[in-house]
Amino acid sequence: MATFRKLQVVTQSNEFVTATKINVFPLIEPKDDELRIRVVYTGINMTDVNVCAGRYFADDEPPYDIGFESLGIIDAIGSKITENKYKIGQPVLVFDAERYDSFSEYLYKKVQCITPVPELKPEYLVALGSGLTATIGLDIAGRVKKGDKVLVVAAAGGTGMIAAQWAKHRGAYVIGTTSTEEKEKFLKEIGVDCVINYKKNSLTNVLSEKFPNGIDVIWETIGNESLKNLFEHLANRGRMAVIGSTYSYKNEGIAEVQIENWNAKLLRGSKSLNGFALFEYSELFDQYLTQLIDMISNGTIKVKVDLGHTSMEGKFVQLESIARAEEYLQNGKNIGKVIVQLVE
Ligand SMILES: NC(=O)c1ccc[n+]([C@@H]2O[C@H](COP(=O)([O-])OP(=O)(O)OC[C@H]3O[C@@H](n4cnc5c(N)ncnc54)[C@H](OP(=O)(O)O)[C@@H]3O)[C@@H](O)[C@H]2O)c1
Repeated sequence: MATFRKLQVVTQSNEFVTATKINVFPLIEPKDDELRIRVVYTGINMTDVNVCAGRYFADDEPPYDIGFESLGIIDAIGSKITENKYKIGQPVLVFDAERYDSFSEYLYKKVQCITPVPELKPEYLVALGSGLTATIGLDIAGRVKKGDKVLVVAAAGGTGMIAAQWAKHRGAYVIGTTSTEEKEKFLKEIGVDCVINYKKNSLTNVLSEKFPNGIDVIWETIGNESLKNLFEHLANRGRMAVIGSTYSYKNEGIAEVQIENWNAKLLRGSKSLNGFALFEYSELFDQYLTQLIDMISNGTIKVKVDLGHTSMEGKFVQLESIARAEEYLQNGKNIGKVIVQLVE
């Protein structure tokens, strides 16, 4: 009998490698209303460790699936699916807001989870979790507009590189933070107006000196001291988009941040702190995804994909390398979006 493999969480833990195991399943035909997708690329996300630790759904009982997004080709079609755009061999993005299971060699999905793309290029995968978060998040939580000064934290990362370019697309002046000279170079290439290497210079000092009236929109993904310090640089009427808590995922998940007198500071400056969770906005996915695919396709948005070529053990290939790719991302080694190629 034909089989396929997928990675599952078998023990809840903050350590990806401890939590997961590859299991084998029979490769069956799709149901009448399903497509079977052969996954070629899968996206790695900071928050995968939160899924491993059981922080997503209260009823998560191991074994359960993991992985937010993938790109593959249609491999079999259920008998009730007759639309011309779903053909064998068609490259498609797969994003299922109800089931995180993309670390798998094959997926069975209804058409609502499927978006055809022009080519089987990993760059298109960036449109999903990273692209949708950056664009919808900046518009909704950042209320970004022309002339704003927008600061993007971790701007050379998967989500950050799209946030920086979306802010530029909306007519903003963009400040991007990062940690290495190679990442600085990348940020200049994608049009970031002011690149700050926080390892070389004190971020707070540079911001106070260059932007004494504060920043209109802050895209904050690190949490902890980063959120606390940046809050003090928010301009009057400024919006801080609280997008992630990278600093603490490997430990307690989203750690509490204490900001002294935060209510008085918000009130007096008409400032806002806006949380954002992508899956709250699924009604906007189609509209933004169409735009992102076009912008990636015509080069308006430049996308860097990090397949791990420069990592110690080389390119991330097959399910076995997902744990290594997760470690690489957790250690902040990436430039752009970390992607694993499941099939060569
Ligand atoms: N709210 C939502 O719906 C949503 C959806 C998607 C993603 N997110 C969030 O967006 C953030 C970015 O996720 P991503 O998957 O795109 O990752 P990523 O930005 O590609 O990678 C993380 C980057 O963060 C920087 N960093 C700073 N401090 C770090 C630390 N202590 N440990 C590790 N990295 C650190 C590193 O860049 P530098 O070297 O340049 O500092 C690193 O490359 C995460 O917090 C994630 O949870 C939220």
